[in-house]
Amino acid sequence: MKGIILAGGTGTRLYPLTKVCCKQLLPVFDKPMIYYPLSTLMLAGIKDICIISTPKDTPVLKDFLGDGSRFGLNFSYIVQQLPKGIAEAFILGKDFIGDDNVTLILGDNIFYGDFGLIQAIRDHKNGATIFGYPVTNPRDFGVIEFDNEGKVISIEEKPQKPKSNYIVPGLYIYDNDVIDIATNLKPSKRLEYEITDVNVEYLNRGKLRVYPMGRGVAWLDSGTTSALSEASTFVEIVEARQGLKMACPEEIALRLGFISLDKFKNEIDNMSRCQYRTYLEGVYREVYAKANNISLGQLGICDKNLLQNL
Ligand code: DAU
Repeated sequence: MKGIILAGGTGTRLYPLTKVCCKQLLPVFDKPMIYYPLSTLMLAGIKDICIISTPKDTPVLKDFLGDGSRFGLNFSYIVQQLPKGIAEAFILGKDFIGDDNVTLILGDNIFYGDFGLIQAIRDHKNGATIFGYPVTNPRDFGVIEFDNEGKVISIEEKPQKPKSNYIVPGLYIYDNDVIDIATNLKPSKRLEYEITDVNVEYLNRGKLRVYPMGRGVAWLDSGTTSALSEASTFVEIVEARQGLKMACPEEIALRLGFISLDKFKNEIDNMSRCQYRTYLEGVYREVYAKANNISLGQLGICDKNLLQNL
């Protein structure tokens, strides 16, 4: 399974912030926005990840994220010359995807909680898998219509009269047919290659699965200043309560075995002194103690279920 993070767009709704910095590198509380979708892909076990962004921002993202090796990942980068639509990612990413399946996540989407992504990827043999999430403002998104038995009847992009309050968040799992489907799309009224049109094509072929996200899951998009501020507050509250960081790629890489403890230590040693480093030092002590059979009780953070809570 390949992964794509779509991290382009004009960022107009976040101006003047996006005049200073690429939208996906803006802070969501204590880390850049892109760490959240990146962590979602990592937790799903996806290691080959392509980041697609604008001509201006791609070098900035590349400079910041590098080749991915510090997280035990392989990053590649593709420039999208103009924001021609989310579905263009599959045309641009054709060679990167090769013969594989692909999961696309939007660079401004934040998912928190267990919504069965690992299982969804494991179950994904062919076709498309998307998720359904209830919101109060469905008009701003792709909206799913269900029949009385919960079967999907239609998906509409930003409808005036939404047929349900279930929308499609920016996380999509596709088989390799997505490349052909995207290549044959016609631009929409807003002159974009719409991801909703890709989903409708899979629906018409009888190959679309929709997994409802449970009520315990948080999905936030950070595309407006209010949404960005709310997302930061959400992260701050959860992290302060648990003493655990959300979407910390170094920690995920270590706990999932993408990098060794030595490499992790090396990463920390190269970091300036800051709260983020102090947190990672705590993780290091805990994992080191476990690896060396030192009593966990002697350590500050020692939750046996830590991995599930990442
Ligand atoms: O957030 C989920 C929604 O994302 C879905 O429910 C909609 O069906 C889907 O169309 C999309 O809605 P938006 O129209 O609100 O997406 P937006 O144009 O804001 O783009 C989402 C992100 O993707 C944004 O961070 C910018 C990036 N992007 C967008 C386009 C159109 C690109 O990198 N390139 C593009 O060409």
